[in-house]
Amino acid sequence: MQSLLLTHIKLLLNTRSEAHALYGSQMREVPRLDNAWLLIEGCEIADFGSMDTIEQDFSQLPENRMDCSGRLVLPAWCDSHSHIVFTGSRENEMVDKIHGLGYAEINAKGGGILNTVQKINEISESELFDESWKRLEAVARTGTGAIEIKSGYGLSLEGELKMLRVIRRLKEKSSLEIRSSFLGAHTFPMAFRSNHAAYIKQITEEMLPVIAKEKLADYIDVFCEQGFFNPEESETILRSGMSFGLLPKIHVNQLHAIGGIQTALRVNAVSMDHLEHMPEEEIALIKKSGWKGICTLLPTAAFFLRMPFPPARKLIESGCAIALASDYNPGSSPSGNMNIVYAMSCIQMSMLPEEALNAATINGAHAMGLGDVCGSVSRGMLANLIITQPVPSLAYLPYSFGSNLIDKVILRGNLIG
Ligand code: NIG
Ligand code: FE
Repeated sequence: MQSLLLTHIKLLLNTRSEAHALYGSQMREVPRLDNAWLLIEGCEIADFGSMDTIEQDFSQLPENRMDCSGRLVLPAWCDSHSHIVFTGSRENEMVDKIHGLGYAEINAKGGGILNTVQKINEISESELFDESWKRLEAVARTGTGAIEIKSGYGLSLEGELKMLRVIRRLKEKSSLEIRSSFLGAHTFPMAFRSNHAAYIKQITEEMLPVIAKEKLADYIDVFCEQGFFNPEESETILRSGMSFGLLPKIHVNQLHAIGGIQTALRVNAVSMDHLEHMPEEEIALIKKSGWKGICTLLPTAAFFLRMPFPPARKLIESGCAIALASDYNPGSSPSGNMNIVYAMSCIQMSMLPEEALNAATINGAHAMGLGDVCGSVSRGMLANLIITQPVPSLAYLPYSFGSNLIDKVILRGNLIG
């Protein structure tokens, strides 16, 4: 088995023996080792310790070594909400927005999600794979080691299967850990705008049985929002997905609070994602419910759509577990760079660098069922690591937003580049 020893690590971050999700004030703690070594064997983190005891720790030092003087080593980002499988771009909508059009108005015009749906339906599965593969490789170079990917730009049996099969091929070929979500309920296709029941029937009776049979998705997701799926429709779809063995996730309170939080609590969602519009009563409701899922916040989507940022501080103060994710998609977050997500959550959402680090690693991993596989520096976990440039501190990473401070990325024990 191939070994690699990282030596003289200035700060080894998020070292844990047990990696449960972190709630409320637990998110402030980032266990760390100064002046550390870390041993990778095969695809796993075999061990780590202090440079002060390296001579005692090894009878013979492995030959393959890398000096990490001045550098931080941290778990690779765990991006638990993305739509990275898409085609084309929608910069024209950005210009429409500059001219004053709203997100919902663009959607009503047949733009928005439906614009990408049309493009997806025009290309082949292999073209979609090639385009998505390039994007996946690019986010890996910016430090992402695990990613959840949603369907939702097909909106027909054929289109959704095309997307989910692309995600499956990415899972098989990529060194990133990938989880997939079926988001047939992303929006209503034009033909079903006045017959919601018929489209929901298509999702539950035509799409879900095939998706479940081919094991194409881990999660069922819904865009619960005014003008999209209302709370009752969302619950029907989530419960149907659950009856096929998929776990529920939900896009909720992005634009309005319409009762989706209550739906999420009723189905015991694994995660509630977005939460830009959170009335105090709904934060209190989450607290009172004792729900143990994860609030996934997507600051780059709020930034790109010029929305209020989600109330991270209030959620943390009421004891929630926060994950940070990119929402990478052509409409509301055309970037999958988790370093920007990290910086924005500190600068605009007042998350502490430690809280945001946990949110973008360990809690992100939990939001996609990968808490035992990656997201922390633990013995036996995947060696998915970021090695930074020489930097003075952890806080320097979000502080110098926009500069590339990643020197190397290791996924499954291999340097990528
Ligand atoms: O998470 N909110 C719904 N879906 C995406 C946007 C998708 C699109 O505009 O293409 C989101 O922001
Ligand atoms: Fe999304």
